[in-house]
Amino acid sequence: QIVPVILCGGSGTRLWPLSRKSYPKQFVPLVGDVTLFQASAQRMRQSADLAFGSPMVLTNSDFRFIVTEQLSAIGIDPGPILIEPEGRNTAPAILAAALHLHATDPEAIMLVAPSDHVVPDAQAFHAAVARGIEAVRTRGDLVTFGITPDRPETGYGYLQLETRPDGSGAAQPLRRFVEKPDMQTAEQMLADGSYLWNSGIFLFAVRDILAAFEAHASALCAPVRAAVERAKPDLGFLRLDPESWAGAEDISIDYAVMERAGNLSVVPFSGGWSDLGSWSAVHELGNPDADGVATSGSVTAIDCRNSLLRSEAEQLELVGLGVENLIAVAMKDAVLVASMDRAQDVKQAVTALKAKH
Ligand code: GDD
Ligand code: MG
Repeated sequence: QIVPVILCGGSGTRLWPLSRKSYPKQFVPLVGDVTLFQASAQRMRQSADLAFGSPMVLTNSDFRFIVTEQLSAIGIDPGPILIEPEGRNTAPAILAAALHLHATDPEAIMLVAPSDHVVPDAQAFHAAVARGIEAVRTRGDLVTFGITPDRPETGYGYLQLETRPDGSGAAQPLRRFVEKPDMQTAEQMLADGSYLWNSGIFLFAVRDILAAFEAHASALCAPVRAAVERAKPDLGFLRLDPESWAGAEDISIDYAVMERAGNLSVVPFSGGWSDLGSWSAVHELGNPDADGVATSGSVTAIDCRNSLLRSEAEQLELVGLGVENLIAVAMKDAVLVASMDRAQDVKQAVTALKAKH
């Protein structure tokens, strides 16, 4: 069976003030009525050809009840919910999930997914997963899902194919994985045409990912294994042992394993994908009208263009009048007014506020 493993760790500072340390973006309904976390869980439910198990969730102590509430609200029974004593990035989290699964279901295939992405076409996603399963079963590969790049983005990983995408959508062997290149390299890779973006979704057999950790990130294995073996059950959650966990390096799966492993495949995915990393991405996906204005909540827009206007508090009226290229997000206790071109810089606002308080 395929076990969905949902990663719920990040804080998403570029979506301030909606995304907070105490309530990050994956738990708020950014587009549509369900949250990104709920949508991720729904996407990995039974389909015609794929047998998904209950989702395993990795998160921290602060979010544990949000996780259970949001899953129960959409009628999904969670599998194990592992609590990380502190965020150590995705490599230790995924290793802990694999070790925990190994004890109960060593033959399982893990579908590791971030909780903060938008993938609107679940059917296309299932078809891509089915193609990935082939590569897992026949070659023991670690499977990535590749997105056709449309700009030289430096915040993503890049997947270099052995050959150009052949259009069939089948899994192809990967030559090289390059995590977060500098701008010049990203521009070259975009021009080259044989690179796809790493979507951050991975598929592999428990056995194969454990072997990859042993081979490429062996220093993580002892502390994470100890943290899993000494984990304590607590009200239906499983708390990883803090002392052991503290010995694990803070590193992402991309650097720890993907850049180093030889047995990688990529399934090109064209079903639509966004990591919804900034307000400009929310604007694009929020059904802007003919003037490019996307609104949410009690908003009146008069003669506005290319803007995102959101009122996030009850009875808070937001009016936009004659503005252009503007992001306005009003919460009960904070308001962001920013130029659309500066969407990537909103994290600076968070840094500035932290310095002040
Ligand atoms: N449980 C847990 N614990 N989850 C975590 C942790 C952690 O310590 N750190 C990050 N996550 C979760 C985040 O919430 C997010 O859902 C996912 O893991 C990926 O982490 P990010 O921090 O958002 O990674 P990134 O965006 O910089 O890069 C990754 O995603 C890109 C696509 O969006 C990489 O995989 C890139 O290669 C990829 O292109
Ligand atoms: Mg991300």
